[in-house]
Amino acid sequence: MPGTRIAAMGHHQPDRVLTNDDLADLVDTSDAWIRRRTGIATRRIAAEDETVADLAAPAAGKALAAAGLAPEDIGLVVLATCSARDRCPSNAAQVARALGIPSAVAYDLNNGCAGFCTALASASHSVRAGAARHALVIGAEKMSDVTDWTDRSTCVLLGDGAGAAVVSAVPDDHTDDHTDADAAAEAGLEGIGPVEWGSDPTRGEMVRLLDDWQPHFAQEGQAVFRWVTTELPAVARRACERAGLTPGDLAGVVTHQANLRLIEALLDRLGLPEDTVVAQDVVESGNTSAASVPMALAKLVERREIAPGAPVLLLGFGGGLSWAGQVVRCP
Ligand code: ACO
Repeated sequence: MPGTRIAAMGHHQPDRVLTNDDLADLVDTSDAWIRRRTGIATRRIAAEDETVADLAAPAAGKALAAAGLAPEDIGLVVLATCSARDRCPSNAAQVARALGIPSAVAYDLNNGCAGFCTALASASHSVRAGAARHALVIGAEKMSDVTDWTDRSTCVLLGDGAGAAVVSAVPDDHTDDHTDADAAAEAGLEGIGPVEWGSDPTRGEMVRLLDDWQPHFAQEGQAVFRWVTTELPAVARRACERAGLTPGDLAGVVTHQANLRLIEALLDRLGLPEDTVVAQDVVESGNTSAASVPMALAKLVERREIAPGAPVLLLGFGGGLSWAGQVVRCP
């Protein structure tokens, strides 16, 4: 079986910036409350007629260009979303059409805020099994479509955007040279580590898209906070172990960007070295569900904040309850 790696990343967000002061005109809140409790300063909001596929296609196009690939090189498109209105044709198929990808397998996947890491693992498994040589893996959300704009406890959290990765088979001629998996990993050839994933469906009511009057995001905020800070550190450690590493070996960590207070409390329990780069895109972008991990990683890559080849832990978690995490080598 070949290995896989993330060859390149891309991201895209709508133009409109919604500030905390803008939200204070809509509901009884303040910039100070939102920053203190969540760390969020701004979020991007898509136009009325902008769809999840509209957000996803530019992100995917940038990843494709950065990988130096042509549309016909892509054999698989997986798009993670929980907010898309379009069901058929899938948003992945719409992205394939927009980018001129002629005949790829294309499908959407919904695993809430763990969606991108789940899609990355699924695509990586498909590539390793030889089902495609290059795959586009996208997380894209228009959370503004599933926001109750009268509920101050949730509308301040959410935003829109998309992030994308090109997943490629590590060339056979390279892997053939390395019979020892550890040597291949050290050489940066094993670019996507084993996934640590699972769910607790008995607690599914903690994060939901309720569909009473129209679909809208709802959560038990404090229960989610407790779940993430008590149970997700072990998931993060296991993802590192499965890649043959400890948290102390990580150059970077990109968790689901739910809120900054939550990310800090989670990572405090991991014992990371002081120089580990921690993604904080939530400050600018809010919680973009399945888009948050790829968007945050793409921005770190763009700003060259993590050296190519260095190990980065990705960790998605949310509705389901579900989680998925893996160590990847930074593209
Ligand atoms: N502005 C001002 N006051 C507010 C706001 C707001 N935007 N929202 C809630 N409040 C008020 C409440 O009405 C309540 O007032 P009361 O005491 O008079 O009743 C008070 O603040 C406390 O409300 P809580 O909901 O208990 O607020 P909490 O301190 O729990 O903070 C938050 C809410 C930030 C969401 C917190 O629960 C949290 O960090 N949760 C983590 C989970 C998370 O981030 N989920 C994101 C989505 S899930 C996911 O992505 C996995």
